Amino acid sequence: MPTTQIEVALPQFADDAQPTEILEKGVAAAVGAVQLACSFSVEDLVILDLIHQLRLPIGVFALDTGRLNEETYQVAERISERYGLSIDWYFPKHEAVEQLLRAKGAYSFRDSLENRHECCRLRKVEPLGRALSGLKGWVTGMRKEQSTTRTALPCIEIDVLHGGLVKINPLANWSEAQVWDYAKEHRLPVNKLHAQGYPSIGCAPCTRAISEGEEPRAGRWWWENPEHKECGLHR
Ligand code: ADX
Ligand code: SF4
Repeated sequence: MPTTQIEVALPQFADDAQPTEILEKGVAAAVGAVQLACSFSVEDLVILDLIHQLRLPIGVFALDTGRLNEETYQVAERISERYGLSIDWYFPKHEAVEQLLRAKGAYSFRDSLENRHECCRLRKVEPLGRALSGLKGWVTGMRKEQSTTRTALPCIEIDVLHGGLVKINPLANWSEAQVWDYAKEHRLPVNKLHAQGYPSIGCAPCTRAISEGEEPRAGRWWWENPEHKECGLHR
């Protein structure tokens, strides 16, 4: 009987499992092509640096929604130079974007949750599906601490939504301080927006700086309730 990825036996991890162990075991569990989904956040840069140090066979893809900050492209250039990296960029289908803007304008995502999901679906989720096709595993920079929607994040999981790929979250157990300590120690070329009060960076019109005491993801879709602050990439 043919086996499917959903039947993969996942490794178990201690509560304080570290990124190196998670990455290495994740690649082994995937048994095939694995890529890092890179939004050029400080978390993704830490993972990229570890991948490079460990010489793991993990490529990089990025979803260009068409609404990213200029500073984000600058990071992409800097890491391409630093690691001699070729990034697999994915764009939304132009027909879908044209249709959306003609029908609803450039800021429809502010009008309702439904409209916001529509924009995320065509600019992020559909391209993600294409990016993942042909892969056996993908790596993300998510951490448990980041939000109420991520507290139960496993180190490695089976991504049933995307056909049973192995989804690897190497920084699941790390704190924001651990991420920044690593980034500083290794002089990673982090996004300039982080220093301007942006712990979490997505699309330009849907991200703002946060004030002291606010949750790290408070600046993402700030007009929505915390439980809605996912765009469909991670459900
Ligand atoms: S989001 O779902 O709210 O947008 P977030 O910005 O926290 O996600 O990023 C979590 C992880 O999702 C990143 O570390 C990265 O692995 C992946 N990711 C988010 N946005 C992108 C993107 N534009 N391109 C590629 N990967 C992304
Ligand atoms: Fe659209 Fe905002 Fe989602 Fe980006 S984050 S895809 S601009 S709704």
